[in-house]
Amino acid sequence: MSCCNQCQAIEDTFNQETAEGDLAHYHRHGPSRQTKLLLESLRTLGVNGLTLLDIGGGVGVIQHELFKAGIREAIDVDASRAYMNTARKESERQGNAERVRFYHGDFVQIAEQIEPADIVTLDRVICCYPDMPVLVSLSAQRARKFYAFVYPRDSWWTRPLGRLGNGFLWLTRDKFRFFIHPIREVDSILRANGFRPHLQRSAGLIWQVAIYIR
Ligand SMILES: C[S@@+](CC[C@H](N)C(=O)[O-])C[C@H]1O[C@@H](n2cnc3c(N)ncnc32)[C@H](O)[C@@H]1O
Repeated sequence: MSCCNQCQAIEDTFNQETAEGDLAHYHRHGPSRQTKLLLESLRTLGVNGLTLLDIGGGVGVIQHELFKAGIREAIDVDASRAYMNTARKESERQGNAERVRFYHGDFVQIAEQIEPADIVTLDRVICCYPDMPVLVSLSAQRARKFYAFVYPRDSWWTRPLGRLGNGFLWLTRDKFRFFIHPIREVDSILRANGFRPHLQRSAGLIWQVAIYIR
């Protein structure tokens, strides 16, 4: 599958209705379990005064929460216009809009325009993208200190579950696909870009959180 096909599928999947649902969920319950773990770990490392690049930020939970923890400014890149606009409205509501720059598009296609940041986050984004090596290396090259991500556990039982999910999407003529990229490959790309692992922890049955430090 080409990345262009997946980007159209991302626009269709992450639409206005799902964005509003995700924002309502965030207002009612706060960050999801895996995002909470990622946020707690970053806060422990110290984020005061740092800058953030959140790729595939969805409704912007990471930036909204890290502003409360003292980050200086943020860049939000999202392939879904509906999610990006929802994140923008929420950052206006929280009084942070002037400190966030929003870019719509596939990060890989627009990476050259995006400034480096101290922290780069990809929360459940690597699993949306077919060309993991390009996404991970371009995003790692823009991280000055911390590279934090949430990705599906790469285990004997998540792989068939992913295939089952993709089979269902194919049957329902949905073009979106889910990718469980081998974590060993993600790890070696990050090491080749000067990062070392700091934390890798499961958050529930499906997700894992990892933080790398340069
Ligand atoms: C599963 S959602 C996760 C949203 C949010 N990070 C969260 O955990 O709630 C995936 C998000 O990544 C975005 N996305 C996926 N691939 C992307 C890419 N190559 N460039 C920019 N955004 C991307 C989607 O538009 C969507 O907002």
